[in-house]
Amino acid sequence: MAEIKKADGFIDWLDQRLGVKKLTKVLMTEYWIPKNINFLWAMGVVLTALFTILLVSGIFLLMYYKPDANMAFDSVNYTIMQEVAYGWLWRHIHAVAASMIFVILYIHMFVAIYYGSYKRGREMIWVSGMLLFVTFSAEAFSGYMLPWGQMSYWAATVITNLFGGIPFIGNDVVEWIRGNYVVADSTLTRFFMLHVFLLPVVIMILIVVHFYSLRIPHVNNQEGEVFDFEAEEKKYIEGKKKDSKVIPFWPVFLSKDIFVICTFMIFFFYLVCYHYEFAMDPVNFDPANSLKTPTHIYPEWYFLWSYEVLRGFFFSANLGLIAFGIAQVIFFFLPWLDRSQKVAPAHKRPLFFIWYWLMIIDLIVLTIFGKLPPEGNSIYIGFVASIAFLFLFLVALPVITIMERNKNGGAKC
Ligand code: HEM
Repeated sequence: MAEIKKADGFIDWLDQRLGVKKLTKVLMTEYWIPKNINFLWAMGVVLTALFTILLVSGIFLLMYYKPDANMAFDSVNYTIMQEVAYGWLWRHIHAVAASMIFVILYIHMFVAIYYGSYKRGREMIWVSGMLLFVTFSAEAFSGYMLPWGQMSYWAATVITNLFGGIPFIGNDVVEWIRGNYVVADSTLTRFFMLHVFLLPVVIMILIVVHFYSLRIPHVNNQEGEVFDFEAEEKKYIEGKKKDSKVIPFWPVFLSKDIFVICTFMIFFFYLVCYHYEFAMDPVNFDPANSLKTPTHIYPEWYFLWSYEVLRGFFFSANLGLIAFGIAQVIFFFLPWLDRSQKVAPAHKRPLFFIWYWLMIIDLIVLTIFGKLPPEGNSIYIGFVASIAFLFLFLVALPVITIMERNKNGGAKC
């Protein structure tokens, strides 16, 4: 056994047993972040804060929620919203945080795309981030079912039906997911388990993997500049803080992040108190009724773009399903669809810059039309926007980035 000396304080006592000083160095005071970044790099920490809010508010809701098709609606709309002291506040916090986490996830993703933070050694950061995105989507979808309102029921019916498109085994898969021929109590209980246990655990593991994957390639910076981190760390430790291109995670970087989190929280609680309705669908205040289909079924706003890709191919359900399948996975492959290894902000990559903004506009158009009923000209606009989405990722991106690579002398790196 290692020699244990008389401790000169509590920290020293812990350090001799758990190595807390080394751990603090590795994780905090000697974890280096580039100086040349802006407030958009705080979104990762805002996401961590929002996830914590979701966990805490979720635990309070769990104390009164009943995962039973006959009681779920009342447990949310009467018990939590009207009978339990401040139950409404926890519900509003949970619903607004669920919507806001997608706003911030999209900002975080599109900032990474803008600055090329997904490539040249950062592929695993991107892939672990995408796994987080998919798991969050499943978490949001399973949560949407729990109030057992009309939209919960019918969105679950439509989305689980999609698996029926899998060749040969589709119908069996749908039945397996639902635990019944139709969406029923068995579906609610298994989605409840996923929402409160399995998916949150997977998310926590993935967050650790995501943070770990940042460790070796390090966080990118506004210019995509590559520099010797060890040499810059040395300068900082030697006291040449101004000359060094890096800052320690704690206390310097995190104190700036905490400022961004506090500013964000003012806006967040303003929404919770005054505009929570944007995070809740009015149709979901009617109890689930398997005999009454709502006139227009749509998912939450953050899934609308991919839902529109599905509906865009209005003349063929199979084509729609294939396009939808591609839309679900295409972002995973971004580091390899982008054939240029140049890491630089989009405004320094002219063709990529145009591609980037066309992609954002297309996603906005898909989101708007995903919410509208599929009638009249909307159908054709949805179709064009869906084709444009596939074209932008499968054709335009590889082509323009190959052109960019050739212009830069053809070098891959
Ligand atoms: C709850 C979900 C997530 C959390 C808590 C999280 C957290 C973080 C944190 C703390 C950072 C470092 C600082 C920063 O750039 O903000 C980071 C970086 C990064 N994240 Fe995430 N992230 C999440 C989801 C995602 C998603 C969905 C993607 C997209 C696929 C993604 C891709 C990236 C990339 C590429 C970087 C590197 C940025 C750079 O090097 O400049 N993350 N993330």
